[in-house]
Amino acid sequence: PVKYTQAIRGSFFDITATVEHPDQLPQQARYIADGLLLIDGGRIVSLQPWEAGRGQLTDDHQLMDYRGKLIVPGFVDCHIHYPQTEMIGAFGEQLLEWLQQYTFPVESQYHCPQHAEKMSAFFLHQLLSNGTTTALVFGTVHPQSVDALFSAAEQLEMRLIAGKVMMDRNAPEYLTESAAQSYQQTRTLIERWHHRGRLSYAITPRFAPTSSPELLNAVRKLKQEFPDCWLHTHLSENPQEVAWVKSLFPENSSYLDVYHHYQLTGRRSVFAHCLHLEEQEWDCLHHTDSSIAFCPTSNLFLGSGLFNVKKSWDKRVKIGVGTDVGAGTTFNILQTLGEAYKVAQLQGYKLAACEAFYHATLGGAQALDLDDCIGNFNAGKEADFVVLDPAVSALQQLRQGNCRDIWEQLFVLMTLGDDRNIAATWVNGKSVWQRADQEKAA
Ligand code: GUN
Ligand code: ZN
Repeated sequence: PVKYTQAIRGSFFDITATVEHPDQLPQQARYIADGLLLIDGGRIVSLQPWEAGRGQLTDDHQLMDYRGKLIVPGFVDCHIHYPQTEMIGAFGEQLLEWLQQYTFPVESQYHCPQHAEKMSAFFLHQLLSNGTTTALVFGTVHPQSVDALFSAAEQLEMRLIAGKVMMDRNAPEYLTESAAQSYQQTRTLIERWHHRGRLSYAITPRFAPTSSPELLNAVRKLKQEFPDCWLHTHLSENPQEVAWVKSLFPENSSYLDVYHHYQLTGRRSVFAHCLHLEEQEWDCLHHTDSSIAFCPTSNLFLGSGLFNVKKSWDKRVKIGVGTDVGAGTTFNILQTLGEAYKVAQLQGYKLAACEAFYHATLGGAQALDLDDCIGNFNAGKEADFVVLDPAVSALQQLRQGNCRDIWEQLFVLMTLGDDRNIAATWVNGKSVWQRADQEKAA
């Protein structure tokens, strides 16, 4: 029988507090080479050195021995489309053509609840097998897409935020709806799913080009009626898209000003991409306490542009990382951080491992306004974490063997790592996924 209180032994790394400047991160970093994490009822009781904590173990504790592994907080994916799982790696197009040619046809399949159910299970398994324990997720325009995803996440006790796409123009007829319909269906879903267990609802207008003024009015009304819901959309991803928004909304001073005009900026608003922002848009994101999802593999794959990480610090705008599958090319956050490093390199910015792991954990949690419940091993937080095997290939073993400290180890993990490095994933104090060889060990 599974005991209620868990004790986990291994090496631990996390960032203990949010920061305003990356220089402050090393002071907030905590590395315990031989540590003991105590969990009770899905929440963290304490993290301490093994020698200090071992005396507190009782017969009620179920002890998991992960010595030799590195345990970090569960990864937070701040932007992903679950219905696009099946079209990852679609050749040859940039954003607007890519949507027409590949994305919309695939999303049409989610009118079918059985398809949505099957793909929800597949998608959540992909997240967990890559160490991602929380995500902010796009569904499709069909309410049943979101019902299926939330039902599956509820079974796993995952902290997940998702929403039905809202769109009423500039997309095929089979994927568009009226503003009134969009309002009503979203409202019903919010009432059904928002704050149910660990689930939360994100009001999800696809992006300005597929939104009429009437639709954006409906979005505003929902956000006013349900102010603690999230707002999730795309912003300034591609130059043609930006020009299109300017022509569709000539009265607004910028792309972001369209959303801001409809009162869609704010603490729980997450804007994916933000590659071609004007100065006033950065300022608006800061003043409204809005967040950005940085999606490096997607931005490179669609040729969209390079996100400016340094600028987000300078402007004091919160960011998290997103995979943006299916424009993104991996579910894996280690690989995503490796690509983030290269994006920063192209702009003369050094993305240190400490900062990269911050964006993937506590920083991402803060960007989603969830840093009071997830993101590190502080007492009282929900016990979501990932057990990393730092060296699973001959090359990784050779390279990790040459690392002198945790910083080099983490950097090599984000440079050479992938899903093979995920040994186990724990959600709400329970092991929900194990690599095949770990299953036998457990
Ligand atoms: N902008 C509007 N819709 C989408 C989408 O599905 N993916 C990406 N990457 N950008 C978008
Ligand atoms: Zn996206």
